[in-house]
Amino acid sequence: MQTYSKSDGTFVLSKPIIDTTSTVWIAAATAAIYPWILDAFHWAVTPPVTATSVSTGATLLAALLLIAAFAVPLINLFIAGTPAQTPAPNAQDVRARRFALLAITAPTVYVFFGVLTYMGGSKIPDTWLWTPAWLLFGYLASRNTNAVISPLPRTSSRLRVAHGIAGSIAAVYVLFHIFNHLFGLISPEAHAAVMDLGRIVYREQLVEPLLVAVMLFQIFSGLRLVWTWSETSADRYRMFQIATGVFMSVFILGHMNSVFIFARTWLDIPTDWAFATGLPTGLIHDAWNIRLLPHYALGVFFVLAHLVCGLRVVMLAHNSKVSSANRVWWIGVSLSAAISAAIMCGMTGLRLS
Ligand code: HEM
Repeated sequence: MQTYSKSDGTFVLSKPIIDTTSTVWIAAATAAIYPWILDAFHWAVTPPVTATSVSTGATLLAALLLIAAFAVPLINLFIAGTPAQTPAPNAQDVRARRFALLAITAPTVYVFFGVLTYMGGSKIPDTWLWTPAWLLFGYLASRNTNAVISPLPRTSSRLRVAHGIAGSIAAVYVLFHIFNHLFGLISPEAHAAVMDLGRIVYREQLVEPLLVAVMLFQIFSGLRLVWTWSETSADRYRMFQIATGVFMSVFILGHMNSVFIFARTWLDIPTDWAFATGLPTGLIHDAWNIRLLPHYALGVFFVLAHLVCGLRVVMLAHNSKVSSANRVWWIGVSLSAAISAAIMCGMTGLRLS
């Protein structure tokens, strides 16, 4: 088993447990089976035709399947976060890590993919395309290569600063947006009332295009930073920051496609509570909508956790003690998970009164 010492906030490596080819195949297999886990969940929560509700056994099975669905990105987060064996990882290590980073995004890519196949009028079930595609990617990524990585020029500190500044602007909207979603715990009407207030600002003629531009800048500047960082032997904190950024990039792109192109332009429907929660069937009992649950839950968790990672880096740059920065990180990440869980409870029907 690989072990790490955290005494000074960095991780010290001992023996690796598995080789890079195996990690690529684990990443490919977990991503490939992801939609089947969701299908099995749907089967478990659907009462048989002769009954009006599901049995306790089926409910337990559904809970386990939901945990399994969340385990897919978590397993790949663990793989991507395993520090490289040398200060200069070889091409195979880098490729395996990048592949694991890609597999973390499976829950959000599956939503994006589903919206695109729906808009394209595909008659083929998504799973039939999804699973072979991931296995093919896995095969391609696992092939031995003698190539040496030719590192990209290091990203300029200006790009990092620009990413941080634009990120602070994006964070104003994102924090409001997440705060808004918490109102679902009170009622859909409360959620709508807060959204109406926000829309006065963010739907303003000049603000909305600026917000979209900032989001697109974050995606592309972030992915450029990820590309360089994924070539280094960064510690788990840094890898978590990279992984949350990769997830966010795909999430934001897919989410903006759903809001602006799919809903507002293609379907010409309002992007309201009913749209977000997949009414009338809801998120839990619909075979398609269930994919939105891990997508939204991880979207909220990862965006908040990404901001917390940024805060840790800023604290370290300002000479905070590593132990203090790490404590702030743990508290922040736990809070992010709690906020995400609260929003998902509201979106699946829990009300505080
Ligand atoms: C529970 C999770 C989320 C749900 C249910 C959700 C849902 C929605 C809905 C319904 C809209 C349309 C708002 C409107 O019409 O005024 C929207 C817009 C948007 N969301 Fe989210 N969102 C979630 C999380 C996020 C996160 C984590 C981000 C960013 C990282 C994000 C970024 C955006 C952006 C950029 C827009 C476009 C804003 C605009 O209309 O100008 N969302 N979202």
